[in-house]
Amino acid sequence: MSITIKITGASGYLGKIISGELHKKGYEVSGIDRELLYGPAERIGDTIKNATVLINLAGAPVLQRWTAKNKKEIYDSRVLTTENLVRAIKILPPGKRPQKVISASAVGIYMPGHTHTEISQNFNTGFLGRVVTHWEAAWNSLPENIPLTIFRIAVVLGKESATIKKMLLPLKSGLGGRIGSGKQPFPFVHEKDVARAFTWAAESPGSNGIYNLAAPHLITNAEFTRAFAKTLHRPAILPVPTLALRMLFGKAATMLTESPAVIPDALKAKDFHFQYPTIETTLQEILK
Ligand SMILES: NC(=O)c1ccc[n+]([C@@H]2O[C@H](COP(=O)([O-])OP(=O)(O)OC[C@H]3O[C@@H](n4cnc5c(N)ncnc54)[C@H](OP(=O)(O)O)[C@@H]3O)[C@@H](O)[C@H]2O)c1
Repeated sequence: MSITIKITGASGYLGKIISGELHKKGYEVSGIDRELLYGPAERIGDTIKNATVLINLAGAPVLQRWTAKNKKEIYDSRVLTTENLVRAIKILPPGKRPQKVISASAVGIYMPGHTHTEISQNFNTGFLGRVVTHWEAAWNSLPENIPLTIFRIAVVLGKESATIKKMLLPLKSGLGGRIGSGKQPFPFVHEKDVARAFTWAAESPGSNGIYNLAAPHLITNAEFTRAFAKTLHRPAILPVPTLALRMLFGKAATMLTESPAVIPDALKAKDFHFQYPTIETTLQEILK
């Protein structure tokens, strides 16, 4: 029997990378229309019935001004859609439900300025923390016999990632630098390790649980910027002032100026091998 994988948020950056990897492995991969996620559970159910794996990546961009309207979209596109997915799964007869669910989450769940393994309960009490804790909690009523894997994803780096694309030009011109003080942690992960982790979760029995999907190398924002500039053979001298980011993004600027340090203990315990464990190996692959 063929393995079918249904994905929400399939047209996004991670959706494309993860679908591509799963497709290469010969799985039948298809996206779930965004509108369905806000509609009746029966219609979602029709789309996901008999899927082997359901992957949930949908979510409106978080790095935008947190106006009341944008906050509602950021929240609903994760929490409401996940609640609707769970409702749809539950109304399907048990034999037609997805056999496994894998969902994105984010390291933004953790309190900035501290170091966290998966057992940490020290959660971010701000808007982003509320979105991510509620996003994960929306899975609580998933039928217990369906294995659920949740990845708390760090900043994903790759040729097409927003972080790399936004920094490449200023740093190439010698105009970029650390963000704010640069002392804030910079949890990161290579996009290929993200695709490999999702594939591992889809293929491995016993992969259920919560996993920090962040490279094991703990660095600060200033160290990231230095490594980036060094790989490009350019200086990184001009810091990006916190004030400028606040003017651009308002409160959302805290996502760039405050972050947690994150250790991938649970993946290590499963012997998951990061192909790009350090910032140097990551940037060398991306900028080669
Ligand atoms: N990239 C990262 O560094 C990173 C780090 C941590 C966590 N994450 C999380 O991982 C998920 C995927 O990230 P990504 O980088 O692939 O994001 P992305 O490129 O912005 O893609 C997200 C996808 O979600 C869907 N979407 C957008 N607005 C929506 C809305 N209002 N309602 C429902 N669906 C909507 C869209 O797919 P369709 O058009 O196909 O519906 C969109 O392509 C997101 O939830 C993100 O928060 C990403």
